[in-house]
Amino acid sequence: MTLDHLFDAAAKPKSAPAGSITIRRPDDWHIHLRDGAMLRAVLPFTSAQFARGIIMPNLVPPVTTVAAAAAYRERILAARPAGNDFRPMMTCYLTDQTSADEIEKGHAEGVWIAAKLYPAGATTNSHHGVRDLKAIRPVLERMERIGMPVLIHGEATDPTVDIFDRETVFMEQVLLPFLKDYQGLKVVIEHVTTQETTEIVRAHAPRVAGTITPHHLMINRTSLFQGGLRPHLYCLPVAKREHHRLALRRAVTSGDSCFFIGTDTAPHTARTKEASCGCAGVFVGATALQTYTQVFDEEGALDRLEAFASLHGARFYGLTPNAGTIELHRRGAAMPAAVAVENDEVVIFRGDETLPWSIGEVRP
Ligand code: NCD
Ligand code: ZN
Repeated sequence: MTLDHLFDAAAKPKSAPAGSITIRRPDDWHIHLRDGAMLRAVLPFTSAQFARGIIMPNLVPPVTTVAAAAAYRERILAARPAGNDFRPMMTCYLTDQTSADEIEKGHAEGVWIAAKLYPAGATTNSHHGVRDLKAIRPVLERMERIGMPVLIHGEATDPTVDIFDRETVFMEQVLLPFLKDYQGLKVVIEHVTTQETTEIVRAHAPRVAGTITPHHLMINRTSLFQGGLRPHLYCLPVAKREHHRLALRRAVTSGDSCFFIGTDTAPHTARTKEASCGCAGVFVGATALQTYTQVFDEEGALDRLEAFASLHGARFYGLTPNAGTIELHRRGAAMPAAVAVENDEVVIFRGDETLPWSIGEVRP
């Protein structure tokens, strides 16, 4: 099936790309919205560009019950700007104590679309996460049976493992045996950062998929130290070497349906990032689609943007693509460098740059 008819750009030769393109409204399959004042400050950025989103459950305390997830969903719906139709899809934070019945109940009630597996200690607010995969075998078997995907933060938690090797070590020691063990389980490897992981995703598709963030397509590990320490580029998994970044660019523009958007937009206040022990997480929600579009443009693949942004994820989750459209213009737009949150601010990824692409009209 060709998608060409959906693109303004596809009608024009690649050597002279269009000044604007229109794609179906995209979805973001990996979002941290937080709660309270932070939620109200960051949600409008995500809801301006994405129609639906999978909301990560690593609140304090984590979202581990159907009731807590349903209440959190209501707070998100209430925080949307007037007239906005953004649809949050909720996840369950897996712990060693998660019950298979609670998982199935939330899935059957349409509260949970998936469950998130944080190996304990792997990242921000993951200390309640899973310590022993054996402890959640009944949960994973139930998810396999009911067709509920597990979303995995794929990093080794052994503190002696070099931080740049943690994804690779996790894939070899945990993920590959896990995929053999649960051959019918749908798995998303979140925020893929290495070439080897892109190959693992491809080799196990279509029941395995991978999300790729905008920032991992733009920065490598050297960027973290460009002219000095750059705390706002620090996230987990940490950016890797340049050849990995290039492999991620090839993956997203390949047209392979096992790769889709997951921005991992992860806001933290400037005070907690510009600190002697700064938090991991990049606030990319405000510039995500503009950045993905730029990457596809640079790779000569604008005709594949819609599939990556708006079709592959929906297909994996068994949802219909959005009916509406969004316009993207090849035109710089001013962006605030940061967004105020109470007495502090959250620095926007690339907010200090004039981006070559900007968001135009959204038609629901
Ligand atoms: C995320 C956060 O801040 O919640 N941080 C990050 O660096 N990506 C957690 C996560 O997804 O790992
Ligand atoms: Zn995340």
